[in-house]
Amino acid sequence: MEFNSKLMKDLSNCFSPSGREKNVREFITNEIKDYVDEIKVDALGNLIARKKGTGKKILFSAHMDQIGLIITHVDEKGFLRFSNVGGINAKELLGFRVVFDNGYEGVICSEKLEEKEKITFNKLYIDVASTSPDFVKTNFQIGDMCVFQSQYYETEECVICKAADDRIGCYILIEAIKNYSETETDVYYVFSVQEEVGCRGAVTAGYGINPDICIALDVTATGDSLDGIKMDVKLDGGAAIKLMDKSLITHPEIKDLLTNLAKENNIKYQYEVLEFGGTDAGAIHTTMSGVPSGVISIPTRNLHSCSEIFHKNDVLECIKLVNAVTKQ
Ligand code: CO
Ligand code: ZN
Repeated sequence: MEFNSKLMKDLSNCFSPSGREKNVREFITNEIKDYVDEIKVDALGNLIARKKGTGKKILFSAHMDQIGLIITHVDEKGFLRFSNVGGINAKELLGFRVVFDNGYEGVICSEKLEEKEKITFNKLYIDVASTSPDFVKTNFQIGDMCVFQSQYYETEECVICKAADDRIGCYILIEAIKNYSETETDVYYVFSVQEEVGCRGAVTAGYGINPDICIALDVTATGDSLDGIKMDVKLDGGAAIKLMDKSLITHPEIKDLLTNLAKENNIKYQYEVLEFGGTDAGAIHTTMSGVPSGVISIPTRNLHSCSEIFHKNDVLECIKLVNAVTKQ
């Protein structure tokens, strides 16, 4: 299987911050609708596709939303004040470009500060490069959201892009659906909403489906760069089988299932313990009377920045592992 650069680029470029997942949902629907038995959108906006079977019910989940910013106030001079939608550190935002749903762009600037360490959201503003407050007031309103802007770039090995978290998980499920082979398993592919603000879509999707097991697909950090994160996971180390994060201790049966399937199918894998963060599996494993759950993670550098980096080989191993779970 080759890495499908166009598919990844298109997914990364969909404008879909939390609660505004329409663009990416429509894009994914078009990609998969001819390959599945059922497809629907639930009340919160989760996209749920199904390959029907009479066997065990498996739920795979990847979230469609990306972190973003929301306008809180447009000031007299035409500068935009904003707050975060999802986990964003104000200290890292200076100079980031942002893009709105209407295509307009801006840059994040700071009021004059004596010490850069003191940066907080209420010292920052977005400059949309206009000298006309009227123009700004016409085109930007309280509640409008924007996302980080950066250009998709690819090397022989890796991809640099925005919203790899979690469009790469969506990519893996799309490719898994397209390469599905017949099985008894009843498979639900959930493309969830609002993960970045607390796995809200996963709560209702998990409850509605009530699966026998759940596997989330999401990015994880790595310990192989110089950013100080101490962990075992590295780029090109294979699919990362999560053992624990802040939202989940992987069920022993799921750890064994994923490990054995990886071994039997010659899929390169590594184990992951993440000391921060969580995924949709955290929300789904406590739904109804409980769902044994785990996560297949994609090792990713620079999480929640405008330029996340992942390795194409790891992605291909993750797709193989998803389809191995489907077929067992
Ligand atoms: Co995230
Ligand atoms: Zn994520």
